[in-house]
Amino acid sequence: MKTDQSKNLLDRARQVIPGGISSNVRANWEPFPLFYERGEGSRVWDVDGNEYIDYVLGRGPLLLGHSPREVIEAVTAQFHKGLMYAGQTELEILAAEKIRELVPCAEMVRFASSGSESVHAALRLARAVTGRKKILRFEGHYHGWLDNIAWNFAPPLDPDNPRESPKLFPSSLGQTPEDGANLFVLPWNDLALVQNLFEHHGDEIAGVITEPIMCNAGAIEPQPGFLAGLRDVCDQHGALLIFDEVITGFRVALGGAQAYYQVIPDLAVFAKAMGGGMCVSALAGKETYMRWFGELKTVHAGTYNANPPVMAGVRAALDFLSANEGAMLKKAQTTARRLMERLRELAALTSLPLTIRGVPPVFHVSFVPSPSVPVTDYRTAQQADKALARRFWIELQERGVRVIPEGLWFVSTAHTERDVEETVNAAAAALRAVEQSQGAES
Ligand SMILES: Cc1ncc(COP(=O)(O)O)c(C=O)c1O
Repeated sequence: MKTDQSKNLLDRARQVIPGGISSNVRANWEPFPLFYERGEGSRVWDVDGNEYIDYVLGRGPLLLGHSPREVIEAVTAQFHKGLMYAGQTELEILAAEKIRELVPCAEMVRFASSGSESVHAALRLARAVTGRKKILRFEGHYHGWLDNIAWNFAPPLDPDNPRESPKLFPSSLGQTPEDGANLFVLPWNDLALVQNLFEHHGDEIAGVITEPIMCNAGAIEPQPGFLAGLRDVCDQHGALLIFDEVITGFRVALGGAQAYYQVIPDLAVFAKAMGGGMCVSALAGKETYMRWFGELKTVHAGTYNANPPVMAGVRAALDFLSANEGAMLKKAQTTARRLMERLRELAALTSLPLTIRGVPPVFHVSFVPSPSVPVTDYRTAQQADKALARRFWIELQERGVRVIPEGLWFVSTAHTERDVEETVNAAAAALRAVEQSQGAES
């Protein structure tokens, strides 16, 4: 694998862009952050000409693969008519109507440009309509990088940080204790702890925010009854249930995880897949709450909100996914299911504790040595051997398979049976290489 051109560009970038990267998340790459120049379908090429089957897919947005024709044509047509007007277009009505058609909780929709922003709008709205301050969030969930929610995404695990009452840990220097003062944090998937918190503080809690599948800490599914239990406890205490469907939305089902698990939140945040690669997010929810924005009681603003080319892209991406009863989404799910099965076959053959978990078309690959307790939350997910996962990831990249370093794999409508076969062959060889390097060490 050649990397000379990437190295030259990174050296140059570092002179003008801190770290040479525009999102800190991208630092976590080997041998260093690479530069890319082209993507098409399931494939992406870096500036040194290395070709990869891509399961990073922009970290989720490219559910239609790279350069999807339908989205590009819709966006380009609008580009020729104007980039933005700081006024309304029919395109945003069409996009909102489509979301309402697909998503159970989406009686009304407000658009923005990133998931972090729409999470922010959800938290503000929950506080506004309840007149309460506190938000319950869960360890290991990611809801964007803004100050008042970016806490306990990757907290330390030690006896000073008890499971039943976790301490608050900011994600970054620069966040103040006051930013986290209105948060409660609990481990995920433990309804008894949530109920106990509500019994003592129910009248302070404005809302509960959760990824309905804990994608950011290992594609962990909710325990049976957990989401429904959150729904009940919120109803009993007058708090809003907020699903962060930035990853699950339009992916695990056309209606997102709320349709998949049949638990309907009050508010839900969408981004990534909804735009097929355009910078977009949405807050969707029940009219009784969402109308607070329209009545100007709660501020939600943004120069780039619902900008017309992006709205054209959203409509095109969602039409593409949902046509013929969701045939294209089903295709991506089938391809992913097949890939998961084939990787599990490899798991049965290798001495390494390869574990595949998730809801197609998004799944997580990790190495969980036995004896192990079931992985149900952030803390139990830490049993996984991160060094092994890192080596496997590097070996995959060497063999032309590009995945997110933390082990999350996204599959698109553009991935084919041939991609699956090539990926499985590469994975088998990568596992052998990791096994050999382990043997050499011991
Ligand atoms: C579940 C979840 N919520 C929110 C966000 C933040 O979205 P953005 O990066 O668009 O601000 C992310 C980003 O990965 C996410 O995975």
